Amino acid sequence: MAMKAMSMKGLKPATAVRARAASRTPLRVRANAEQYGVFRLSYDVSKEDPALTRNWKPTIKVAVTGASGNIANHLLFMVASGEVYGKDQPIALQLLGSERSYNALEGVAMELEDSLYPLLRSVQIGIKPEECFEAADWALMIGAKPRGPGMERADLLAQNGEIFSVQGRALNEAAHENCKVIVVGNPCNTNALIAMENAPRLRRKNFHALTRLDENRAKCQMAVKAGKFYTSVTRTAIWGNHSTTQVPDFLNSKIGGKPAMNVIKDIKWFKEEFTPTVATRGGALIKKWGKSSAASTAVSTADAIRALITPTPPGDCFSSGVCTDGNPYGITEGINFSMPLRSDGDGDYEVCDDFIIDDWLREKIAASEDELVKERGCVSHLIGVDGGTCDIRGVADTTVPGEA
Ligand code: LMR
Repeated sequence: MAMKAMSMKGLKPATAVRARAASRTPLRVRANAEQYGVFRLSYDVSKEDPALTRNWKPTIKVAVTGASGNIANHLLFMVASGEVYGKDQPIALQLLGSERSYNALEGVAMELEDSLYPLLRSVQIGIKPEECFEAADWALMIGAKPRGPGMERADLLAQNGEIFSVQGRALNEAAHENCKVIVVGNPCNTNALIAMENAPRLRRKNFHALTRLDENRAKCQMAVKAGKFYTSVTRTAIWGNHSTTQVPDFLNSKIGGKPAMNVIKDIKWFKEEFTPTVATRGGALIKKWGKSSAASTAVSTADAIRALITPTPPGDCFSSGVCTDGNPYGITEGINFSMPLRSDGDGDYEVCDDFIIDDWLREKIAASEDELVKERGCVSHLIGVDGGTCDIRGVADTTVPGEA
């Protein structure tokens, strides 16, 4: 099935556009919003409504994988509404699903149509990664295989690794060279590593694994414990893997501008309650919902994007899993590891180099580092490394938080 364009609300009957899109040959329809978005086919919105569009920026292309799933179903509407990239930022959505989920993907596109978002300039759906990523400025990689009954963590890594190596090659072939990639599908750090290693044309720095969800969870726990509004909690880093080995950093966190440990004077709570609560929150939610968190994952993905396109306030940071090449903390290079970052708001970032690491933190960080090095060993065949070994079989499963 080829990439298919869905008309947006309005000026032409959607069915006519769908019929035209469906009748195009060859089947490999390029993901080109100029050609297929009904707004662009039928009229120039800036002529029709100059007041609305006067301050609009050029349209950006946002590719989303796993687009018919629960997380995307929250995130897409936030993106289309303008609350993520800004109220002056038109968006072309390029959605990737599967043969199996194609009806649902059409349903998502229809709901986007019906939502009448002015900034949403086109929606394209399809099942070919290289079409989804065509000229993409952002790739939000949500789709991943969930772990099935009896499946070992190594098997999950292997199966998702295949998906992310294929998608990484498609990014390499099709995406904009400065495309920012945010991997949400688990195990997100190693999936991001695989995608990055398979997309050498793209900047290694631009591959992120979503740990902003963990940061938000950590801030929530500290705010509740301190009896303060959550915005007063700043400089909260997540170190390591999006797994139960992750390290929510209370040592460097601040509450109302003061060290969090001077506000919550309870080191036992930080070590024995706060840390495991944050690290196993995903698993706790799975037990409640019977499925993974979706809404808060979407919200934190939006936060992760905004963190890159908004200047980080002085002294603050945000967390994201990024490539460790050249990191200032001596963490093994060539893995994807969550660290504290700062951005000027231009989509790029630097790793904060002034975080204090005490013995407790160092030991915890080393355990998560060790886990990610082992995960890399399990996918070595997918990232062009010869002779890697996978020695995580039989080891306690931490990759999907708390699910075991
Ligand atoms: C979460 O942290 O909520 C998810 O990553 C959990 C999961 O296993 O999907």
